[in-house]
Amino acid sequence: MKVAIKGIGSYLPDKVVTNVDLEKIMDTSDEWISQRTGIKSRHISNLDTSDLGYQAALRAIEDAKIDVNEIDLIIVGTFTGDGNMPSVACLIQDKLGIEKDCTSFDLNAACSGFVYSLNVAQAMLKSGMYKKALVIGAENISKTLDWEDRGTAILFGDGAGAVILEESDEYGFDSFYTGSKGDRERVLTLGNVQNENPYAKLEQFASDKLAMNGQAVFKFATRIVKKSVKEILEKDNSTLDDYKYIVCHQANSRILEATAKGLKADINKFYMNLDRVGNTSAASIPLALDEMVKKGLVSKGDRLILVGFGGGLTWGAVSLTY
Ligand code: ACO
Repeated sequence: MKVAIKGIGSYLPDKVVTNVDLEKIMDTSDEWISQRTGIKSRHISNLDTSDLGYQAALRAIEDAKIDVNEIDLIIVGTFTGDGNMPSVACLIQDKLGIEKDCTSFDLNAACSGFVYSLNVAQAMLKSGMYKKALVIGAENISKTLDWEDRGTAILFGDGAGAVILEESDEYGFDSFYTGSKGDRERVLTLGNVQNENPYAKLEQFASDKLAMNGQAVFKFATRIVKKSVKEILEKDNSTLDDYKYIVCHQANSRILEATAKGLKADINKFYMNLDRVGNTSAASIPLALDEMVKKGLVSKGDRLILVGFGGGLTWGAVSLTY
């Protein structure tokens, strides 16, 4: 028995900010951003993360043709929740009006959050304790950015993607490969607000704005995406030709081009929508996958590899028959 995607949906906030718009508020250019990243525009949210996830969830539930009260597990991959408590998953449970008891929690693995969440959800479904899972990648990264740092502010966007999972004897997930490595050099960080505890002063370990050593992350990303794909090929005893698409975290077109070159693969195998959405972290893979399904690029029976990588440092890949 496998665990399969029964429904998919996504949501992007209405406001679109183009590179030309950014030229007006910082020292940058459409040419620089396009050439270095492939990004042309991104969506910026004035909603909470749970609102983005809720909208995506509604669409996935409709696609799966299920009642909300059939859902007994909600996992949200995010590092930009509404607050620290309640979790985004519990907020979405409330917004969906799920009346029966559910198991809901957030999972923070930065841009690997969606693949990590799929892995946890499929294991929980296979345990037999849960029947239908709602797995969401939702991010509101714009609220964490230093809008004076042109090295990061131009990269990110907001959005959410969601899937409904349940057991299937036909299609589903084949192999998972996940990993993490402590980020000793702190190349990708987002701190918390300093507390006012009168008994103990905690050192703020990082800025409360997203900070990144772009070149270090770039090197990590090109190495780890290639390794992740190779690990999956080995586990599946397959070759790249066996998969229709590789749906990779949408960070930078140059990372995907370098990976394709390293794997001697056709770049067209790597789906890209980052030109229109930027880097939406945990939301990027389900956003891209939903777009592919809606465009008719992916249909039932197609084999895919999904690959995420990001802060932590973390990475995760999964092969599936859609
Ligand atoms: N506009 C114009 N110039 C800029 C901008 C900008 N927006 N940003 C930086 N520059 C300048 C720099 O100041 C520097 O100028 P200098 O040569 O005069 O000092 C020059 O451009 C080159 O800067 P680099 O940082 O070396 O540029 P690089 O080619 O490395 O590109 C980038 C930067 C796009 C961030 C790249 O390193 C990258 O994509 N890294 C990976 C990011 C990533 O994948 N993140 C995913 C994980 S995110 C997560 O997990 C939450």
